[in-house]
Amino acid sequence: MTDSPADRVRQLSELPIWVAPMAGGPSTAALVIAAARAGALGFLAGGYKTAETMLAEISTVRAAGVPGFGVNVFVPGQPARHPEAVADYVASLRDDARAPGAAPGEPSWDDDRWTGKITVLMAGRPSVISFTFGCPPADVIRGLQAGGTLVAVTVTDPREAASAAAAGADLLCVQGPEAGAHRGTFANPPGPPARGGSGPGLLALIGAAAAVTDLPLVAAGGIADARGVAAALSAGAVGVQAGTAFLRCPESGAHPAHKAALAEPRFTSTEVTRAFSGRPARALANKFVLEHAGAPAGYPEINNATRPLRAAAAASGDQDRMSLYAGTGFRSASDRPAAEIIEQLAAGAR
Ligand SMILES: Cc1cc2nc3c(=O)[nH]c(=O)nc-3n(C[C@H](O)[C@H](O)[C@H](O)COP(=O)(O)O)c2cc1C
Repeated sequence: MTDSPADRVRQLSELPIWVAPMAGGPSTAALVIAAARAGALGFLAGGYKTAETMLAEISTVRAAGVPGFGVNVFVPGQPARHPEAVADYVASLRDDARAPGAAPGEPSWDDDRWTGKITVLMAGRPSVISFTFGCPPADVIRGLQAGGTLVAVTVTDPREAASAAAAGADLLCVQGPEAGAHRGTFANPPGPPARGGSGPGLLALIGAAAAVTDLPLVAAGGIADARGVAAALSAGAVGVQAGTAFLRCPESGAHPAHKAALAEPRFTSTEVTRAFSGRPARALANKFVLEHAGAPAGYPEINNATRPLRAAAAASGDQDRMSLYAGTGFRSASDRPAAEIIEQLAAGAR
């Protein structure tokens, strides 16, 4: 007899520590495998990859005998509302790009290969598929569920929580403004991102989401120690999803200069910025973030345009022009193996 979705959600809540998907390098098959062996649920990051690369990573994790793991996919948004503001911003980056020996790329729109990824996932049946930057259509959700997959949607406010529940999601990843990298907001309206991240903090958000839906909630944002885990679970979450806490571990594929920056005294704070991608994201406050506080909305156009600059900066270890994405708990990120970090976090769930 196969388990019902409710049974499977219950089984997942016995794995209260989730290792967040981290696109752009940090999430590796090795991190997902280490998470599973340590009793946590790891996620592969489908974002920015081809469907074929995503499938190859799924196969690597399966071949290691991991029974339960997740895959994360970005939901496509709309082209930038003010392309002229995007073009002006990209033109203003010429000097920044020249420093590491690059030029800005084209501010092109794309859907991050949505159809190919959904086709792979419909056939591939990971235990959980989480969506970020929006809620997929109800028929996609139903199709994935029919294959035995649980569908999670990342939400950042009660309105998004209600709409994901109405579309048929099995569970919600509630992301607070403390979280590292992109805010998973459904929309990306023009206007400055609030400097400290917008709206209430994670614990208040868990309560606000629980007021509009009975779906199980997994909490994300700024959780980097056992106390943070205990607080999120006490607030009503069934699990927590931590990202930044794993950025420095040996299984993380984060760039060495990114790993190093998280522990360097000269980086003292994080900011929410659109400077690298055109979407609000939390990063260490380096020179690029501080000098481009007024970057406009335009995702993925600005992300595509800054890619050559970011790649050249990373190649030369230029921490002042790299996207050093990190959550507010970055100082607690340790370089110990993922299993030890999971063990430490899991103490907060006991
Ligand atoms: C470097 C980095 C990359 C991330 N990439 C993704 C991603 O591809 N998809 C996603 O849903 N969330 C992504 N996140 C956000 C995480 O899912 C999660 O919300 C966040 O890490 C939680 O906050 P914390 O970093 O303070 O633990 C990323 C976070 C980081 C730090």
